Amino acid sequence: MSLFITFEGIDGSGKTTQVEFLKSHYAGENFLYTREPGGTEVSEKLREILKSEPLDAATEAYLFAAARRELVKNIIKPYLEAGGVVVCDRYVDSSLAYQGAARGLGIKNVLRLNELAIDGVWPDITFFMDISPKLSLSRKDKRDAFEAAEFLGAAYNGYKILEERYPKRFVRVDATLNEIEIHKQITVVINERRTK
Ligand code: TYD
Repeated sequence: MSLFITFEGIDGSGKTTQVEFLKSHYAGENFLYTREPGGTEVSEKLREILKSEPLDAATEAYLFAAARRELVKNIIKPYLEAGGVVVCDRYVDSSLAYQGAARGLGIKNVLRLNELAIDGVWPDITFFMDISPKLSLSRKDKRDAFEAAEFLGAAYNGYKILEERYPKRFVRVDATLNEIEIHKQITVVINERRTK
């Protein structure tokens, strides 16, 4: 049975570590791993632009959505249609939290401009790696702390709104727990869904 799994959370919440654990746990099975922004040639080019240029919030939202469109159409949708499991490190909720909430475009507006991009391809499970912005920042090298804390705080609040809005697919994970413990919890949820 096909399954679309996404990982979400603020920077430094440990998503990427968990995706790596899944790769070895389900090695040899029909799992496809990808990340946003990126995952196709065009999307990787857009990633470069998004990472290197300071952009207007709406421009940024459109570019993330364009990168997402390429990934959904060329990679995610075909793999799901063939009955596979897709694991994506960030997806539409990142745009809703970062561009919608943190950059102030509004979740509703960003959702609207993403509808065309995702074309109904919503995740079945979204693991929300829940960690406070303060703690996540302390895990990272010292960056321009104040601004970062404020921005991540706004993105975090965005995720909390999304968690309430999408209770069926959102699975909150306590990201302060030991990473092996988190991995176990995640595999329990995935295995449960796969046998349904
Ligand atoms: P990346 O290096 O992939 O970071 P991480 O390991 O935290 O996922 O950079 C992704 C950055 O882009 C991250 O700060 C979140 C941001 N982002 C958005 O603002 N909107 C989006 O739609 C996506 C997919 C990512």
